Amino acid sequence: MTSTKKFWDKRYQDNDIGWDVGEITTPLKTYFNQLEDKLLSILIPGAGNSYEAEYLHKLGFTNVIVVDIAPTVIDKLKKRVPDFPTPHIINMNFFDLTGQFDLIIEQTFFCAINPSLRANYAKQAHHLLKPNGKIVGLMFNAPLNETHPPYGGDCKEYHSYFNPYFDIQTMEEAYNSIESRAKREVFVKMVKKEYSSL
Ligand SMILES: C[S@@+](CC[C@H](N)C(=O)[O-])C[C@H]1O[C@@H](n2cnc3c(N)ncnc32)[C@H](O)[C@@H]1O
Repeated sequence: MTSTKKFWDKRYQDNDIGWDVGEITTPLKTYFNQLEDKLLSILIPGAGNSYEAEYLHKLGFTNVIVVDIAPTVIDKLKKRVPDFPTPHIINMNFFDLTGQFDLIIEQTFFCAINPSLRANYAKQAHHLLKPNGKIVGLMFNAPLNETHPPYGGDCKEYHSYFNPYFDIQTMEEAYNSIESRAKREVFVKMVKKEYSSL
């Protein structure tokens, strides 16, 4: 097991999961409620307990794929939502994933990876999206921690990673954050550029 895998798996084994709010958050619920195409292929990387995936599944979206590096949470999800298609629950490192998706949903995954991997996240997301595919979700816009997750950051820094690969259509303070994250996160919508500028 790699150290990253061990680290996250232990967090789930010890139930040391302060980021887990136990249900879908309001910004993502609001966004999902207005999506009409139930066939969209939607990737949720670093999905953890995957309340967002469960919500989409219950709404009738049939192409929702969750990826997480921690086997313990993958097993928990399979037990909690037994009718979620098993092939759509993937225990893998996001950076090793292949495939093509319409939409990547971000929530507390970007802040969980080492900041040295942030440029790679943008590159890998670009690689995994179909033409005109999008990253949509939430990113912290606050200093947070420097030595352990969640790592903080700000929009200027995020622009430097995503601008080469995406048209950043929205990156602004979320108006409907859950209380504990209010004024500390931005809602993002970034559309894949056909060609990266790198
Ligand atoms: C802070 S948690 C967030 C979980 C979930 N997004 C949520 O909102 O509750 C970060 C998640 O990313 C997973 N993770 C960390 N590094 C990963 C990687 N390289 N590939 C896939 N999953 C990873 C961890 O196992 C953990 O479930």
